[in-house]
Amino acid sequence: MTHTDVVINLDLTGPTVSRHLYGHFAEHLGRCIYGGFWVGEDSPLPNTRGIRTDIVEALRAIQIPNLRWPGGCFADDYHWRDGIGPSTERARMVNSHWGDVVEDNSFGTHEFMDLCDMLGADAYICGNVGSGTVREMSEWVEYLTRGDDSPMATLRRQNGRDEPWRVPFFGIGNEPWGCGGNMRGDAYADLARQYATYARNHGENTLYRIAAGASDSDYEWTESLMKALGCIPCGDRPAFEAVSFHYYSFAGQNGLKGSATDFNEDDYFRTIASAAKVEELLTRHSTVMDRYDPQRRIGLVLDEWGTWWDVEPGTNPGFLYQQNSLRDAMVAAIHFDAFHRHADRLVMANIAQTVNVLQAMVLTDPETSALVLTPTYHVFEMNTGHHDAATCDVRVRNAPTRNWNGTELTTVSASATTTGTSALVSLTNLDSDGPVELVLDLRGRSVKSWHGRILTAETVRAHNTPAAPDAVAPRAFTDLEPVERGLRVTLPPHSYVTVALDLA
Ligand code: AHR
Repeated sequence: MTHTDVVINLDLTGPTVSRHLYGHFAEHLGRCIYGGFWVGEDSPLPNTRGIRTDIVEALRAIQIPNLRWPGGCFADDYHWRDGIGPSTERARMVNSHWGDVVEDNSFGTHEFMDLCDMLGADAYICGNVGSGTVREMSEWVEYLTRGDDSPMATLRRQNGRDEPWRVPFFGIGNEPWGCGGNMRGDAYADLARQYATYARNHGENTLYRIAAGASDSDYEWTESLMKALGCIPCGDRPAFEAVSFHYYSFAGQNGLKGSATDFNEDDYFRTIASAAKVEELLTRHSTVMDRYDPQRRIGLVLDEWGTWWDVEPGTNPGFLYQQNSLRDAMVAAIHFDAFHRHADRLVMANIAQTVNVLQAMVLTDPETSALVLTPTYHVFEMNTGHHDAATCDVRVRNAPTRNWNGTELTTVSASATTTGTSALVSLTNLDSDGPVELVLDLRGRSVKSWHGRILTAETVRAHNTPAAPDAVAPRAFTDLEPVERGLRVTLPPHSYVTVALDLA
């Protein structure tokens, strides 16, 4: 067995891990909104004003900090005025990106803001640049956030909401290089400046405006946006406050995505290699930004990330409904470690997506409505202690590696944060066969007590279903032995462990 040291300097703290790195994304796609969050007031399922109660409760337990809506690709086809007013009178629309289904717009602005209130989450609304006008976007912001008797504030009141809402985050379109308008980088950069100009601050509400960014490693796109900012900041406000990018992890080759649960070891390591690449992408997008913004005033936002598998057999290919196994939990764990390491530039990240779509937290059965929490949900829950805590300096010495198709993959991932009186250490053994023994070399502070939790299962293919909802669920982890330098820990194969430390 390899002996690896994880040196954690509990007194050497760095940037704060914004809770917004644990953000979420809910698009009008498949059964995320309709048939997921939204069941309607007449549903036999327990709901509050049409929003499914057990989903809200599950998400409150993981303290979701923000929710991005209405897309994704859907955002650039969405006209917000169709989704306000009496629901029986709302215009219908075709969701041309996702299944070509007709939607009745019964879930609109008021329902989304109600959902955010129930979740205790900040709203991250994505405006329409691809097929919407500057005026339409500007009026949406006014409708949402203005308090006086302006035309849009008056319209909102007529629709039953007196007070303006707080909307902290606003996206200037989505994937403009593809479904959001097939634009070229410089053309979009100019539009981002223009649309962001009219996404105004009203009253006390200050918008954090996020320009739609690159796909994966398109560093030129990031460069176009950073160049378009000109001076940073110019006067009180830069042209926009952040730039985003999207990155998904796949296992398949030649355009295939691979099955969510029926995969072999080669697929597993291809997924891990794909997920681990997020570190390089964060570094290189940040490096481009540093050239224009060395003081790091502009934020980087990864507002879509996660695994993307073939849809579950027999389901609508346009609905992106996939199962979620222990492999997905491993992917989430290594993303979060990378996010913590980049907390000085990365201000927000949003997993795609929260309910019934892609790497979801919650899956619901369309026939029985049974709700299942996924292994990924459990990683989010185990990591709530990292929200708004300060990063600690962590070095993994003699990290084990695994040769996969000629590439040496590091199979231990770690990060740690502290609040001052406590610390949380995250440890992942990505190896699919063997355990790994680690010494947590805890420096700089005395540790009074510790408490471990583990997420693992017999195989990386293990997943939760209505018949076996806890096949992959956290348990207490006691394989922690005090040694002179800290704690000796043996991580079983494909396991995710958190160690909470009480500091003296
Ligand atoms: O999350 C699914 C889709 O993936 C989003 O709508 C789009 O932005 C991305 O391509």
